[in-house]
Amino acid sequence: MKTHPITGAFGAEITDVDLGAGLDQTCADALRLALSEHLVLVFRDQFLSPEDQRALVRVFGEPFVNPYGPGPVEHPDMTLVIKEAHERTGVFGGGWHTDLSFLDHPPRGSVLCGVDIPPYGGDTMFASQQAAWDTLAPPMKEFLNGRRAAHVGKPYGIRWAPPVEEQAMKGSTKRGDPDADRERMHPIVLTHPVTGRKGLYVNPTYTCRIDGLSEDESRPILERLFAHSTLPEHSLRLRWTRGMVAVWDNYETQHYALNDYHGFRREMRRIAFQTDGLEAWTGSA
Ligand SMILES: [Fe+2]
Repeated sequence: MKTHPITGAFGAEITDVDLGAGLDQTCADALRLALSEHLVLVFRDQFLSPEDQRALVRVFGEPFVNPYGPGPVEHPDMTLVIKEAHERTGVFGGGWHTDLSFLDHPPRGSVLCGVDIPPYGGDTMFASQQAAWDTLAPPMKEFLNGRRAAHVGKPYGIRWAPPVEEQAMKGSTKRGDPDADRERMHPIVLTHPVTGRKGLYVNPTYTCRIDGLSEDESRPILERLFAHSTLPEHSLRLRWTRGMVAVWDNYETQHYALNDYHGFRREMRRIAFQTDGLEAWTGSA
């Protein structure tokens, strides 16, 4: 197994490994360590079956069922992210976010397989929230350390729900849930339990205010953090090919799905995974 960093900040392409050939303990340990160090792992030409994909997920945690977009009853942990060639609406995952950060226990990460890939477009962008934290000014770090922020599931609730015609994957995603409007407080700064590196844990899709401040008072600080955390220097852009697999850390990165492939079909197969939750990530401020 060889590791090739993608940018100076984070991300790695892993070669000389066959993920579908069964993963022994040594290989699983190496993959977990690589994810801890690089936050996004990319594997080309793997063409994993659903069973292979689930076995890879189990290297990192337990398969997670998305309460707002479960898969079919036979395998609710597996979501097919499909946009047909004729569809013109918004894309599932457009806008910078970490997945489901408004839950009490957001998923720890995801394994995404490229099944049907357009000839161009449909890239996924990632941003390292560790790189974002590292480059904040010391007084800002001091202000944020030990504070919490409120997250709400705006697209899934009632209060902030977008118009129906702007919603992607209509019918397959649960909407109008009053519980999604309930604020969940999470630490603004997370400490990685393996590497000890700190990362920002706020995102423009779900984070609405800083604990102890109103939304108006929080806005200028959060807007500043959102802009900083997705700078090109903290980002990478993944161009998909068929059979490619990406694994990402959902606590230490944000991602953004580009919707620039009108007229082409795109199909991805995703399984998220869960570990112990955010408690182990508060570290010592
Ligand atoms: Fe996402």
